Amino acid sequence: AEIDDRVNSIVDQHSHLEGPLLPILHAVQEELGCVPQEALPIIAGRLNLSRAEVHGVASFYHDFREQPAGRHTVRICRAEACQSMGADRVAEHAKGRFKLNFGETAADGTVTLEAVYCLGLCACAPAAMVDGKVVGRVDEARIDAIAEEVRA
Ligand code: FES
Repeated sequence: AEIDDRVNSIVDQHSHLEGPLLPILHAVQEELGCVPQEALPIIAGRLNLSRAEVHGVASFYHDFREQPAGRHTVRICRAEACQSMGADRVAEHAKGRFKLNFGETAADGTVTLEAVYCLGLCACAPAAMVDGKVVGRVDEARIDAIAEEVRA
């Protein structure tokens, strides 16, 4: 299958590295737009790791997604500085508003909701990132406005 070939050639390009798993996962996501489930056993087999190990690493790092992202990506910062400024509330509101959990993409492909850990905007916590642009002082109303925009 096509995915097998592309994943195998990515593994070929990185297998000389020490600790090749993360670079391979990054390269797969870059090339395929996500790290699909079917890539995991291929990578595991080639690196002599168990599938569970590869899956564990892929799901530990929030950068990797199993499906291609939606047309819009909304990331909510969940790191400490933002948490102390109410990011948990914002995160819960966003999940309800978008009807998505973190890491999920809406069925119609409009939007992906993700958690991130510090956007470098701690001074304007709580912070979010919408399609690559950082937004500070996010509150429930701001989430609603973002939701309107990305659904448009
Ligand atoms: Fe959220 Fe730094 S902790 S931007």
